[in-house]
Amino acid sequence: MSSFVLPDTSRPTAVIGSGTLGQRIALMLASAGSEVRLYDPKAEQAEAGRLYVERELGNVVGARQGATAGRVRVAASLEDALADVWMAVEAVPERLDLKTKLFGDLDRLAPADAVLASNSSSYPSSQFIGEVTRPERVVNTHYYMPPEQAAVEIMSCGRTDDSVIALLMKRLPAYGLVPFHVRSESVGFIFNRIWAAVKREALAVVAEGASTPEDVDRIAHVLTGAPGGPFRMMDKVGLDVVLDIEEHYAATRPGIPAGPRELLKTYVGQGRLGVKSGRGFYDDYR
Ligand SMILES: NC(=O)c1ccc[n+]([C@@H]2O[C@H](COP(=O)([O-])OP(=O)(O)OC[C@H]3O[C@@H](n4cnc5c(N)ncnc54)[C@H](O)[C@@H]3O)[C@@H](O)[C@H]2O)c1
Repeated sequence: MSSFVLPDTSRPTAVIGSGTLGQRIALMLASAGSEVRLYDPKAEQAEAGRLYVERELGNVVGARQGATAGRVRVAASLEDALADVWMAVEAVPERLDLKTKLFGDLDRLAPADAVLASNSSSYPSSQFIGEVTRPERVVNTHYYMPPEQAAVEIMSCGRTDDSVIALLMKRLPAYGLVPFHVRSESVGFIFNRIWAAVKREALAVVAEGASTPEDVDRIAHVLTGAPGGPFRMMDKVGLDVVLDIEEHYAATRPGIPAGPRELLKTYVGQGRLGVKSGRGFYDDYR
C-alpha cells in the first residue's frame, strides 16, 4: 500500500537552476495555467529565464490544444520558490556534491507532499538522496530540449513511491510533455543510451578508416531522411561534452571500446570542439 499522499497538481511548481534546461522546463510548466517559480543564485540567470518564458509562452500555448498561459515569477530565495509547490525540478550543474546538498535542502524546505525531481543527465537519483528523509518523493525526470524535443524520462530513485511515478505519467502531458517510464535503473535513461551507441559506432567507422564524417552523415540522410547525421549532431553538442559522456559510460560499463574516445580526443586536443569553437568534424561554423 502506498504511504505517500499525492499533492494537488494545480499548485505552483518550482524550477531550481535557470540555465539552458531550467529555462526550457519552466516554459513547459508555465503552459498549463499555474504559476512557476524560477530560482537561481545568479539573479541575472533567473531574470533571463523569466524573459525567455514570457517571450516564448504565447507560441507554446498557441501550438497546443487545451494549453493555458500561466505565470512565471523569479523567486528571491529557495524557500520563496518552494512555498506551496506540488513539484520542484532541479536543473543545477551536473555535480554530485551540489545535487546531494540541494536535495537535502529541497527535502527540508518543500511541502511534505511535494515531488522532488532531478533533470540530471547522468546520475540516477539513488546517488544523491543521502541527505533526504523522504526519498519516496524523489525521482529523475530527464528532459531533452523542450519545447522542440518534449520527451521526459521518469526513473525511480530506488525508493520512489509507485504513485509518484503514476502521477507524473498522468500529469506531465498537461504541460505538453511526453513521459516515458524507465523501468529499471539505467545510466543514460532510455534514448541517450541508444543515441550513445549510434555515436560510438559512427566514430568507430571513421576511426577505423572505413568512412569520413561527411559520408557517414550523407548516408544517414539518404537512408533515414534525418536532416543532420551523427557528426553534425556531435559538433552541435560539443566534442568535449560528447567525450565526457562517453568517458562516463566507459567508467560505469565494461567493454566500451576505446577507438571512438581516441578519435574524439584527437579533435578536442586540436581545439576543435564543434560549433562553439568554430570547427569540429566540420569547418564551416565561422
Ligand atoms: N544542456 C542540456 O542539453 C541538458 C539536457 C538534459 C539534462 N541536462 C541536465 O540539466 C542540468 C542543468 O544543465 P544545464 O545545461 O541547464 O546547465 P547550465 O549551466 O546552463 O545551468 C545551470 C544553472 O544552475 C545555476 N546554479 C548553480 N548552482 C545552483 C544552486 N545551488 N541552486 C540553484 N541554481 C544553481 C547556475 O547559476 C546556472 O544558471 C544538469 O544536471 C544537466 O546534466 C542538461
